[in-house]
Amino acid sequence: MIKEAFKEVFRPQFHFTPAANWMNDPNGMVYYQGEYHLCYQYHPNGTTWGPMHWGHAVSKDLVHWEHLPVALEPDENGFVFSGSVVVDYHDTSGFFSGGSGLVAIFTHADTYPNSETPRQRQSIAYSLDKGRTWEKYEGNPVLSDEEIIDFRDPKVIWHEGTKKWTLVLAAGDHIRIYLSSNLKEWSFASQFGKDEGSHDGVWECPDLFELPVDGDEEYKKWVLIVSLGDNPNIPEGSRTQYFIGDFDGETYSNDHSKDTILWLDHGRDNYAGVTWSDMTDGRRVFIGWMSNWKYANVTPTSTWRSAMTIPRTLSLSTFADDVRLTQQPVEEIRSLRQEKYKCQDRQIEPGQNLLSDVEGDLFEIVAEFEVGNASEFGFKLRKSAEEETVVGYNALDSTLYIDRERSGIVDFNPAFGCMHDTQLRPDNRRIQMQIFLDWSSIEVFANKGKLVMTDLIFPDSKSQGLELFSVGGSTRLIRLEVYTLESIYKSRQSSKELHI
Ligand code: FRU
Repeated sequence: MIKEAFKEVFRPQFHFTPAANWMNDPNGMVYYQGEYHLCYQYHPNGTTWGPMHWGHAVSKDLVHWEHLPVALEPDENGFVFSGSVVVDYHDTSGFFSGGSGLVAIFTHADTYPNSETPRQRQSIAYSLDKGRTWEKYEGNPVLSDEEIIDFRDPKVIWHEGTKKWTLVLAAGDHIRIYLSSNLKEWSFASQFGKDEGSHDGVWECPDLFELPVDGDEEYKKWVLIVSLGDNPNIPEGSRTQYFIGDFDGETYSNDHSKDTILWLDHGRDNYAGVTWSDMTDGRRVFIGWMSNWKYANVTPTSTWRSAMTIPRTLSLSTFADDVRLTQQPVEEIRSLRQEKYKCQDRQIEPGQNLLSDVEGDLFEIVAEFEVGNASEFGFKLRKSAEEETVVGYNALDSTLYIDRERSGIVDFNPAFGCMHDTQLRPDNRRIQMQIFLDWSSIEVFANKGKLVMTDLIFPDSKSQGLELFSVGGSTRLIRLEVYTLESIYKSRQSSKELHI
């Protein structure tokens, strides 16, 4: 088995995947003593959603991961749903004999006694050995509310201003905020969002953090991330929105009007993402589950199902007088680059393909275009006579799009094979694209991360072509860099490390 591990058809080569079986949301992401922890919703006995555990991996660089044994298993309180981990530096919890350690805060999901009604309550667990083993607290659960059915996905942060632990949690159609001084006793502070933003689906997986605007440490804003579950009537399925506003340690207020909707990703496959806790280098790094509840259980993979997005550094930047969340791939991912093709200042004519000699299935492409008289320009990836995935810019209506209608296997769900687009105004007449292509995904960061699109694709392994196109006129290519990316499994881990 170990021989084929991580080389199966569609197995991502530089995105995190479980060694085997089903994965959904990222959980418990924390940086502690030189290691990035990534836990995840995990079903260790099957490739579809089931009794939830927390799978676990660690990394020193956010790119190469070491798989560890399951961190949290279901128990008498139920399945282990999504949640977070914090470093308790000053032993506020009393678990660490005056030292420091990790505390996980997660949802226990079961049903009320003698009933089918779901019950979701929050529990904690702690680790004295850098996350290698976890002890559940004997006083679990620590937070419950019998009135609210959907009551889950706690994300805990330390609020420096009030010196309190602050817990944000999804409660169906709003976010609830609770405070604590010891991570064990929680008191309700406020709620947010009943009539704000999008309510296309049930609210899930919140995150709350502060970021400087345009790098100005004197001017910061609070970002609240909220994911929305699938809605059969909405082709986009499950997706993630965010709010920008203020948080005073008790209450969150939104800077925008109630009906403003800010999408975190304009693709179809970035859900339930949250950020790492306790990073010490000032970065706020996000990772999302690269799938969609509309079809997550039926994607055409074999021994495992689902991957995470590339980890992304988040910032707040001002555009045309309004502030937006921007995303950049973490710089560590550059370590995988192998230079393939580079050029500057070319005119791309219709019918010409500058990249006709370049083939492959693992690429990072960095391109800058000047919008000219072409109606559309962009790239076709994983191309063959039958297949292609198109990342294009439509200059007539100023939209960036991904077309995966002919991307390969699309028939496992009617919503999958589609073209979707989003408004993107050129920046000084220029459009920049940074594209990451893996064996079953594509991520596009446009105009310095102002807009991101993340999509799954399942092309035939023989579809390897790459095309740079311009239609309806010529396009000036200001610069182009094409890198092939090295697989993170190049130096394969031993089976002991993999725990499979
Ligand atoms: C989001 C979610 C969470 C829940 C978990 C269960 O994808 O539905 O709300 O905790 O998945 O696996």
